[in-house]
Amino acid sequence: MKQPVKLIAGNWKMNGLGASLAEVEALCAALQSQPAACRVALCPPSTLVERMARTTAGSPIEIGGQDCRAETHGAFTGDISAAMLKDAGAILVILGHSERRQGYGESDLLVSAKAEAAFAAGLAPIVCVGETLEQREAGRAVEIVRSQVMASLPLAIAGRAFAVAYEPVWAIGTGLTPTLEQIEEVHRAVRAAMIERLGLGIAATPILYGGSVKPDNAAEILAVPEVGGALVGGASLKAPDFLGIIRGA
Ligand code: PGA
Repeated sequence: MKQPVKLIAGNWKMNGLGASLAEVEALCAALQSQPAACRVALCPPSTLVERMARTTAGSPIEIGGQDCRAETHGAFTGDISAAMLKDAGAILVILGHSERRQGYGESDLLVSAKAEAAFAAGLAPIVCVGETLEQREAGRAVEIVRSQVMASLPLAIAGRAFAVAYEPVWAIGTGLTPTLEQIEEVHRAVRAAMIERLGLGIAATPILYGGSVKPDNAAEILAVPEVGGALVGGASLKAPDFLGIIRGA
């Protein structure tokens, strides 16, 4: 059976200035000389969305935001709407990243509302879920992730383009990763919860793994059943590292 094309998405978080576009130019050049076997996306800080979209125009690289407000517009100082990201050239948006859930108290309900706002603006969300170390050690990883999937995906998501990213909080930026068996177990639970909530129509929707993905562990993680790609933080900032991951897909 033909394998679905994987999605390798880079999350630059609060990193990157105009000078960092040189990394993106290098990535574009490398992908032009040897096309990727997967979809490639970059999610820069809001200040770089428009410039990065211009830099990657004509390349297969998809651009995304890292968050959006659920409301369409208004008096929300410092925030950005889904339509603004779209207007700047994004086609994706990361939602419910653990750094937002933990740092800003974002609930499943809010993430679900943001996902609806993303659709309304024509963006495909990457909805993040994942357990903390405490929850993992208490044997609750599957239960926690299942409840996040059930409550963070709006019913309106069925039939739309989106992705889910499983990112254990304790694996983000730490160099730690779950075993391949643990990744497979949670990914299967995510798929089951998605089907329970949204029906069989989402059977091909990618479930990305995220958390300390590097060039040297990418290929084995991407080969795990139900892993449909990767959400990459630190290793997406430098073209050679990100390319190393892309080439593993
Ligand atoms: P990391 O971050 O690859 O630096 O662990 C992943 C993420 O937070 O999406």
